[in-house]
Amino acid sequence: MSALHLNRSGPIAEIRLDNPDKLNALTAGMLEALESHCTAIERDPDLRVVVVTAEGERAFCAGADIEAWSKLSPAEFARHWVRDGHRVFDRLARLSKPTVAAISGHAFGGGLELAAACDIRVMVPGATLGLPEANVGIVPGWSGTQRLRRLLPEPVIKEMALFGRRITAERALALGFVADVSENAREAAHEIALGAAKLSPRAAEVAKNMIHAGAGEDSAALIEALGSAAISASEDRGEGVAAFREKRKPSFTGR
Ligand code: COA
Repeated sequence: MSALHLNRSGPIAEIRLDNPDKLNALTAGMLEALESHCTAIERDPDLRVVVVTAEGERAFCAGADIEAWSKLSPAEFARHWVRDGHRVFDRLARLSKPTVAAISGHAFGGGLELAAACDIRVMVPGATLGLPEANVGIVPGWSGTQRLRRLLPEPVIKEMALFGRRITAERALALGFVADVSENAREAAHEIALGAAKLSPRAAEVAKNMIHAGAGEDSAALIEALGSAAISASEDRGEGVAAFREKRKPSFTGR
């Protein structure tokens, strides 16, 4: 069983990293589980909001599992580890439902990238953010220089990636990267999630798509998805399909 679980509580789906002895470092198995949980959440209309959290107080996640990726050949590392991580984090970022990360401990490397794939974040005081990849001779590979760059100013990313500095919860709050700093980040995230669950899911989904398209996240697919949703509600669509079935010419009204 992978160390990444999905729990349901009413309208809330909680994704929980559960390998605190290794500071919740992400393995290929955990990425695979995250991807399949995202699919399950997307397909379940009863689940309206997602909380991403982790076991233990020392680390939300200390990044990609160094033991796992260091055994890979350069080709395997690039082709599987980096690209698979990207695909899975994109899947999380593009979920149609609002997502909140509860950062109860440090979020480094892939852990920070995981938190950045959520819509908003809550962090405990004393926790820090960092991109320590250069310490182990690699670079951020799961969107740390891309998606994260849209959420934090360039000098802040450089502070972490080039200078090895950590960003405190208080500074992350001032930068707008976290929505709240709370002694109990998980509880605070659930409270925020319960509030979001009362809003119209369809309105939230469309707003999220529009915000992402505006920010350049998957904009090609989102433009087609939004246009398709609008056109599929038209009377002309019904007429077009009916005409096809009845083997006659359609009579469109423009409604
Ligand atoms: N991959 C694999 N194992 C990791 C890990 C990672 N990214 N981060 C921590 N661990 C493991 C440690 O090896 C240790 O295992 P052990 O008890 O079997 O020796 C355990 O988690 C606890 O970590 P430890 O280093 O003893 O805790 P610490 O409080 O002294 O230091 C950190 C915490 C986060 C500063 C330190 O663990 C660290 O630098 N981790 C790597 C962070 C990183 O480079 N991430 C990007 C990876 S690409």
